[in-house]
Amino acid sequence: MSISKSKKHPIVGNILAELQGEDWKRIRSITSPVFTSGKMRKMYPLVRQSVEGFMNTLSEYLKHKQVIDVKEMYACLTMDVIANCAFATKTNAFKDPNNAFVVNGRDVLKVSKGKDNINDESDRHESYHNNECEEELKMANKILNIKPSNKFITEDEMIAQGFVVFIAGYETASTTLSFCSYELALNPDVQQKLYEEVMSSLDTNGEIDYEVLTKLPFLDAVIAETLRLHSPIVKIGNIAAQDYRLGSTGITVQKGQTVEIPIYAIHHSEEYYPNPEMFIPDRFLPVNRHKIIPYTYLPFSAGPRNCIGMSLPEVRKQKFP
Ligand code: HEM
Repeated sequence: MSISKSKKHPIVGNILAELQGEDWKRIRSITSPVFTSGKMRKMYPLVRQSVEGFMNTLSEYLKHKQVIDVKEMYACLTMDVIANCAFATKTNAFKDPNNAFVVNGRDVLKVSKGKDNINDESDRHESYHNNECEEELKMANKILNIKPSNKFITEDEMIAQGFVVFIAGYETASTTLSFCSYELALNPDVQQKLYEEVMSSLDTNGEIDYEVLTKLPFLDAVIAETLRLHSPIVKIGNIAAQDYRLGSTGITVQKGQTVEIPIYAIHHSEEYYPNPEMFIPDRFLPVNRHKIIPYTYLPFSAGPRNCIGMSLPEVRKQKFP
């Protein structure tokens, strides 16, 4: 999946990933607080409801020794979480694939991919991102520091930001979960270690507290390594808002020029990741993180136009250097 900025459409053209300049700043500053840790904590019981439905369905399959389509199951889970958290509605997607929300949600995605070549996306930068250094956060703050009088949103823009949740969150999150399961199946030792970490974090009711969940280092490492090896967004292309000299390289990026960042190639480079084709979550454990060179881990991009939804799939709380 790659991202390109397309021509303006009343709804599609207003989604955050498509906007430029002042409109982007205004909408970004309004939408990004959706994923503050406070809001995430409130969403957690809703996510758990969906996960319970998912687990019950899996148990049924297990009872009858039925073969399951993992990608399909995770697509239902992701759809259910999105419906529950963003649209306050239940889909029962596991049992009812004909649910109107599920059917229309998937149709919308097909249309947006086919017609507009938007194969992609859809708190404040409360980022736990690998490469999100202080300087970068300050820059993002400065950019987003818009006047309160500019904090408005039109109806079309509001609809567009609802729509973005599908195109940005649905495919990316379900693909990540599918690849994570695939890698755990291929690497039983990793699976066992993860199982032990999760089991040791259960409380007396057999549940995991949100605060505990967001601080499990191995779970965090497994997700981070899945996103490195199987990044759902393989490259991004951002348009320069102004002429920009790249340090002492002698290269000036001209205003309006598209700069493409080959995320997949960077993540699979031997130069940055020894044995790049191998699934090695330990690379992302706290003791090893300092070895990761800034801006070589980019599943959510970096800088002010990074992913606003990254704290949803990537639950970690620890800051990287
Ligand atoms: C594993 C899951 C996800 C991955 C790998 C991912 C990846 C990315 C990447 C690489 C970008 C940068 C695009 C660019 O620079 O052109 C991005 C932007 C974006 N993402 Fe995500 N994303 C994920 C989940 C989500 C979710 C769940 C949401 C919202 C519910 C979301 C909302 C957005 C939005 C709105 C943007 C555009 C930000 C802007 O242009 O200011 N993403 N995402």
